[in-house]
Amino acid sequence: MSFKTLDQADLAGKRALVRVDFNVPMDDGKVTDDTRLRAAKPTVDKLRAGGAKVILLAHFDRPKGKVVPSMSLQPIVAPLSKVLGVPAAFAEDCIGQKARDAVNALRPGDVLLLENVRFHAGEEANDPKFADALAANGDLFVNDAFSAAHRTHASTVGLARRLPAYAGEQMRLELEALDRALGHPERPVLGIVGGSKVSTKLDLLKHLVTTLDKLAIGGGMANTFLYAQGHDVGASYCEKELAETARDIIRLAGQNNCKLFLPLDIVVAEKLAPGAPARVRDVGSVDDDERILDAGPETVERLCRAMNNSKTLVWNGPLGVFEISPFDKGTMEAARHAAELVKAGKLVAVAGGGDTVAALNAAGVAGDFTFVSTAGGAFLEWMEGKVLPGVAALNQ
Ligand code: 3PG
Repeated sequence: MSFKTLDQADLAGKRALVRVDFNVPMDDGKVTDDTRLRAAKPTVDKLRAGGAKVILLAHFDRPKGKVVPSMSLQPIVAPLSKVLGVPAAFAEDCIGQKARDAVNALRPGDVLLLENVRFHAGEEANDPKFADALAANGDLFVNDAFSAAHRTHASTVGLARRLPAYAGEQMRLELEALDRALGHPERPVLGIVGGSKVSTKLDLLKHLVTTLDKLAIGGGMANTFLYAQGHDVGASYCEKELAETARDIIRLAGQNNCKLFLPLDIVVAEKLAPGAPARVRDVGSVDDDERILDAGPETVERLCRAMNNSKTLVWNGPLGVFEISPFDKGTMEAARHAAELVKAGKLVAVAGGGDTVAALNAAGVAGDFTFVSTAGGAFLEWMEGKVLPGVAALNQ
């Protein structure tokens, strides 16, 4: 992987078109989590310090090539200005006269946010004319949106082909951290994959069992594996039709010397509700009306031991229904143990994916991990070993 960073760019007086990911959670027009806005600050600061005019390009939601007023980026302007500590201007379109006028009004060090790029169908189609129109407003292109780098869009790939292209600070950090976890990791490497559906993570599991030394499977998807091994899963969520696929993955792990950790014991309850009476059971002794909702204490203890014996951890997906106590216990304990090992300098721990980040935040340890990715889909595709088009386009 070789890409140019901002340290190699001549910035003074230049119009820097910066692709950021401002696809932030919003409720009633208000940003409810500004993590992604804060993630853009180091790049914006660096560009401003170098005397560039900063023009931010982003998508919000999926308007599918049409102007959808509720998907405007306008509500981001105020919280963004606050995070950056400098007022950001706004242009009601990302191309054409409105964008041109706003760009022409910029002085070195100024910041401008352009309207949602996905209001134009040319964005997702990576249409050459649309990419040309975007490129007309920049002298250089900075991609700081790793989390959108799995999309072959005009603002991710098209611009990198038209303007001198650089990785922004967040992109650089993200790529370096992911390389440390999966590209050139210190071994042994342990993976944790959780979440509910095997079906959404098939490619991921197949790839990981061929590259990792150990893989722990948790969350709802572990039920499918338990079922595939002949265990009763009661009323649990389970993709029974994927039993054969689960057995293939178990075989593949064996062929590649990847040690697979499936639950030894589990936490069950009859209903999923806060404070619902929960019981610990061995796998295989689940009653018909019981649902598996968390990893059991023995399973978590074995996972923590596996962390002790690993140098690198890469984590995607919770071990149980972490949003609802007491079914958060397994995920919280494992997260805190990983954080302790990182703090003691014994483990490199990288995590990503929306649910995983929320779980680490709930455990209060997101800041202790070596790196927590702000990306969802892009992080998964990276873990699957796929080349992300937005990253590839930055490679020289
Ligand atoms: C994300 O939120 O994961 C990114 O912004 C990508 O959004 P998308 O899935 O709509 O392309």
